Amino acid sequence: MMVSRRFYDCPLSETLLYTAFLLLMSIGYLMALVYLYTSHEGHDGKPGLSIEDIVDTYYGNRSGTRLEAAVRGPMAGYVQQDEDRYEIIAWLKSGAPEAGYRATVRPIVERSCLQCHSPASGLKIPDLSTYAGIKTVADVDTGESLHTLMKLSHIHLFGIGLVALGIGLIFRLAALPPWLKATLMVVPFAAIFADILAWFLTKWDPFYAYTVVIAGVLLGLAWAVQIAISLYQLWFMRTPEGNAHY
Ligand code: HEC
Repeated sequence: MMVSRRFYDCPLSETLLYTAFLLLMSIGYLMALVYLYTSHEGHDGKPGLSIEDIVDTYYGNRSGTRLEAAVRGPMAGYVQQDEDRYEIIAWLKSGAPEAGYRATVRPIVERSCLQCHSPASGLKIPDLSTYAGIKTVADVDTGESLHTLMKLSHIHLFGIGLVALGIGLIFRLAALPPWLKATLMVVPFAAIFADILAWFLTKWDPFYAYTVVIAGVLLGLAWAVQIAISLYQLWFMRTPEGNAHY
């Protein structure tokens, strides 16, 4: 029977190559975590990363538009009469058409909002003086577009798939029970697939945000275990004859 190659069979050059690659990928993974946290946290208005932040990213906040939330909430004080608020909300519910903006909404915002919400004010807030400007707060937020998700998913599938292959190719030299090794090797690929599938499913139903989280955690754990075992066996595992490798 052919004896499989193990980490203790690696010469120093190979050991260094694998070690450097695994350490670099660990740093890359930590960077990705920090990036994920800072780009998604607080999406829902609360500090910290929560399931709602993930839902907001992929599914969006479909309970209404930013304009409706503003005239019911923080901007309510600037609306001169309730009629105006009803007009704005009715316009939003009708799909926010340009003709309606000119006919009914524009006169209201001119009276109540443009002293702040126009380029002349110099404030960095939505410009309500043009149709294009008001549209940015008048569309129902449905999260990342399908187009963006497709762009992100092919980059992820190729990129993370190759990282998983690199880590897995090194990890195959580990001395472990075959079932455990096989499981640890397959989990990252399954997790990447589930994660990306879940982005699209979350767009359809916010429930799948949990799958995004579970898949992400599984991927992280499987990689952490593969990298830890590989580094340990590369440097500290003894040969079957009981000799120290280095
Ligand atoms: C006195 C100045 C002022 C007036 C008048 C004013 N706003 Fe604002 N508005 C702000 C400022 C400042 C912000 C940004 C800070 C914030 O989001 O609370 C803002 C934010 C907003 C936003 C963005 C909210 C978001 O989700 O980011 C909307 C929409 C909005 N205002 C609508 C209106 C409407 C409609 C009116 C008129 C009925 C109005 N505002 C009148 C100062 C004003």
